[in-house]
Amino acid sequence: MKGNTQGTLFSRKRRAVIKATGRAVPGKVLNNQDLEKLVDTSDEWITSRTGIKERHVVVPGESTASLALQAAQQALAQAHLTGLDIDMIICATITPEMVFPATACFVQAGLGNNNCCAFDVSAACSGFTYAMGLGGAVIGSGQYNNVMILASETLSTITDYHDRGSCILFGDGAGVAILCAEENSDRGLLYSSLHADGGGWETLCCKAYGSRNPVGSVLEDPNDIYMTIHGRETYQLAVRRIVELINESYEKLGISNDDVKMIIPHQMNARIIESVIKRLSLPQDKMFVNIDRYGNTSSASIAIALDEALRDDHLQEGDLIVLVSFGAGLTWGINVIRL
Ligand code: UT7
Repeated sequence: MKGNTQGTLFSRKRRAVIKATGRAVPGKVLNNQDLEKLVDTSDEWITSRTGIKERHVVVPGESTASLALQAAQQALAQAHLTGLDIDMIICATITPEMVFPATACFVQAGLGNNNCCAFDVSAACSGFTYAMGLGGAVIGSGQYNNVMILASETLSTITDYHDRGSCILFGDGAGVAILCAEENSDRGLLYSSLHADGGGWETLCCKAYGSRNPVGSVLEDPNDIYMTIHGRETYQLAVRRIVELINESYEKLGISNDDVKMIIPHQMNARIIESVIKRLSLPQDKMFVNIDRYGNTSSASIAIALDEALRDDHLQEGDLIVLVSFGAGLTWGINVIRL
């Protein structure tokens, strides 16, 4: 049987609308000059190849759940809601608080809610777009009214600061959106399309310590405790998939660049984003880029960028926006939202 890989158009009868957003990043900043002291690299190389100038990293006492909780509290305050108003908490992460329980459960406890369902999604850099798609579906079904979708990462905890090919890329942070049901609405999540190709798992991965390489086992390569990436391969696939996703969504919704106020892509590499701009013939100011200040924060990157774009008044109610991702799994996904 063939699965539904065509993407979903959500009915206006009942849609998930973004009610509020939030973000949190650690106070400690690691800039390119700091990295020059750790590996054989330069600010010039990092800036020209990636667009990154600095990233935030956790210090002891900060964690994936603490960042997520901070972001969640900010969004709840903006929405004039309390933790008890939330029916479902989904947290996208690949650097969870613990192996179990889910990071979402720590956030739920921190919000003083001991009843709503709470679980994590592991879809790497596509985590937030996956959580958005899920949130839209459970709200659309009528099952839930208020869904909190979080994305929080502490990638610095699995980064090899001896590997110049990867340590320059990653940072820590969290972002959140609160989705609320709205009936007979022209706003909200209009379209979502989520994909994976597990055959490409080795392109980006962290091999320890799951059931294949349990704690205490001898690793084939001691560096397998850190994430490894095949940068070039990821780069090319990311451009192709992101362009494909955007073109497909335009076709499904009967829209073009002219209708879209802003595209918020996963912040993987500024050059990847520039290639996408060129291939789509997109005006530069319609693409949101903040990778210079955060690096690649995996699932959190789109969530942080969405919050920045909204808080800095780049976006207003009624605007059409596109969130689009590509990452480990391999996974890729898109959400088209009317604010
Ligand atoms: O979100 C998912 C995770 N993100 C990714 O997987 C990132 C996607 N890929 C990328 O962003 C880029 O591929 C990188 C930034 C990782 C690498 O850029 P590139 O233009 O693809 O460089 P490259 O890997 O082809 O390496 C070119 C050269 C190599 O030297 P040789 O062999 O030509 O002598 C590398 O050893 O650049 C060297 N190099 C560096 N030099 C200075 C690699 N990293 C560094 C560095 N500083 N940090």
